[in-house]
Amino acid sequence: TRPGTAPDTAELTFRALDAARSRTLALTDLDEAELTAQHSPLMSPLVWDLAHIGQQEDLWLLRGGNAAAQGLLSCRVEQLYDAFEHPRASRVALPLLGPGEARAYLADVRGRVLDGLGRLRGDSAEELFPARMVEQHEQQHVETMLATHQLRRGAPLLGSGAPLPPARPVPHDAVLVPGGPFELGVDGHDEPWSLDNERPAHVVDVATFRIGRVPVTNAEWAQFVAAGGYDEPRWWSERGWAHRQEAGLERPLFWQPDGSRRRFGHVEELPADEPVQHVDHFEAEAYAAWAGARLPTEQEWEKACVWDPALGRRRRWPWGDEDWTPERANLGGTALRPAPVGSYAAGASAYGVEQLMGDVWEWTSSSFEPWPGFETMLYAQYSAPFFGGDYRVLRGGSWAVDAGAVRPSFRNWDHPYRRQIFTGVRLAWDA
Ligand code: AVJ
Ligand code: FE
Repeated sequence: TRPGTAPDTAELTFRALDAARSRTLALTDLDEAELTAQHSPLMSPLVWDLAHIGQQEDLWLLRGGNAAAQGLLSCRVEQLYDAFEHPRASRVALPLLGPGEARAYLADVRGRVLDGLGRLRGDSAEELFPARMVEQHEQQHVETMLATHQLRRGAPLLGSGAPLPPARPVPHDAVLVPGGPFELGVDGHDEPWSLDNERPAHVVDVATFRIGRVPVTNAEWAQFVAAGGYDEPRWWSERGWAHRQEAGLERPLFWQPDGSRRRFGHVEELPADEPVQHVDHFEAEAYAAWAGARLPTEQEWEKACVWDPALGRRRRWPWGDEDWTPERANLGGTALRPAPVGSYAAGASAYGVEQLMGDVWEWTSSSFEPWPGFETMLYAQYSAPFFGGDYRVLRGGSWAVDAGAVRPSFRNWDHPYRRQIFTGVRLAWDA
């Protein structure tokens, strides 16, 4: 086991909730038409995400998860924000709260939450977990809203993004990770804000493998396109090829035929050294096959990320046990893009693997299944309904993710045909 995490307090938790809210409000500081429009059938109108963030906070923090108790909305209105009841494409047709009503609802819920936390002043992990879970939920919807912004057509609403640290030349080589047992997953004792699917910690044995030092770049992906990779069924799985045909895939989403790309309404030249994003799992598999590689399993990914072979224990982050800083990984969402490979020497793992956290979510070959000994958390429907479904696990977080809402053990999942999320690829090889 490793040094305990710095103790959390109700005060730090307020600040984290407040930081999530600032991001939410910044992405929804738009006129009514922009907020209520359906920018893509893949996404909710932004005003749905806005009120849903408040509804989840109302449910978990004001009612302890008791959905039968009366919340601040009538139950008829509240059920409009049940993600299981209403598929994304149908939400625009619902009688949703307007933007002003939604903002007032969020403020009302938050005010009552702060009163409650203020009275409690409980600083134990058990007392703070629900608020930290709600903070992560809000941050996840911030990323979803960024994906909606990226799908939206028309003049830019967001800037072009904050500057990133300077990149240095880095070999695009394969790093050897010797086989042997390591500790996969975490317990609440070490990572108090880890969500149910990350737990419990358990030992797994992984055979020796190699993994890409850095994610696959736009320049590398362009070679796959130029080599006819999208027209060669031999690189694709049977299902992947059927999907490529049906969806007419020819290049990553938001790449244009002239070699430019569209990013939050800005049209720009593709940055050669930036990790490729907006590819689905089928494309990722095809690229890997063309490159003579494969996708990593999530066990391999996590070992390359956090195992310290010298100490025989996990680190909290790839770079060590210290908290995230902007020099260590592109997280937090301000860049509005991945950083070129070679930008984060200070973020390398014990094995020397770089840019595992942030930049792009990395597709793994793994389906989404519970770790042995899995138990649901307060929000019991967060993970469990998705186990055994048609999902692949994504690791590491993207540039859009807040550092408080991701960890090396964090497991994201989506359908293998999804590519509007900020997804990219890291290769792996049998040794
Ligand atoms: C963990 C990203 C798959 O957005 O579907 C948000 C997160 N769950 N509200 C999703 C989530 C409920 C979830 N992912
Ligand atoms: Fe949600």
